[in-house]
Amino acid sequence: MKIIAANLKSNHTPKSINLYCNTLQSQLDSTKNIEQSEIIVFPNQASLIDNTYKHFNIGVQNAYPVNNGAFTGEIGLEVLESLNIKHIMIGHSERRIILKEDNKMILSKFNFFAKSNMRIIFCIGEDESIKDVRGFLESQLENIELDYPLLTIAYEPIWAIGSGKTPNIEDIDKIINLLRNLGVKRVLYGGSVNSNNVFDICNITDGVLIGGASLDPFVFVNMIKNIYKIK
Ligand code: PGA
Repeated sequence: MKIIAANLKSNHTPKSINLYCNTLQSQLDSTKNIEQSEIIVFPNQASLIDNTYKHFNIGVQNAYPVNNGAFTGEIGLEVLESLNIKHIMIGHSERRIILKEDNKMILSKFNFFAKSNMRIIFCIGEDESIKDVRGFLESQLENIELDYPLLTIAYEPIWAIGSGKTPNIEDIDKIINLLRNLGVKRVLYGGSVNSNNVFDICNITDGVLIGGASLDPFVFVNMIKNIYKIK
């Protein structure tokens, strides 16, 4: 079972997300062996919709670790429950770097949403300046309960995100093995995944987290087909 996640970031709108999801649904309807994958689409907060699709789940890119309350600009668990959303992404590098989320905030999100039995995609990854990659990734995983059964780690080297550049497959494999040795049970790769590299990457991981190449549902479905060599 491969996990294939689409991170739509700040793209799409409350209107276009319906077309996106309906197109994805009908394309997947005619795709064989789709039950071999767990597909998750992460729209932006304003475009969050009911999690009612047959072939994929809707997830949330971020949420604040509360049920509800006075947290201007944020959404809490109550919103997710009302939409039957069970998947959350935590710690994406764009939130760590641009939104200045530190390990402490990220840990509090992990603890809160794990207690709420959410399926968590927890993102980690180093930038080019980091020499001790193992030490850096270990520090990002510090105090994260790796035995939490609904946890998936997404390894995304920051320099590979949106750049069209990916590490070579041996280097990805090294990090995936390193993470498994640290006790990580499920691990995805993310960072410039495209139709050409998705098959090889899925061969050595539990799946992929896809940004830019997932924005068009037709391109996204073709990538899913490429993983299983479906014509
Ligand atoms: P990318 O983004 O596929 O556009 O590199 C991946 C991500 O940020 O999750």
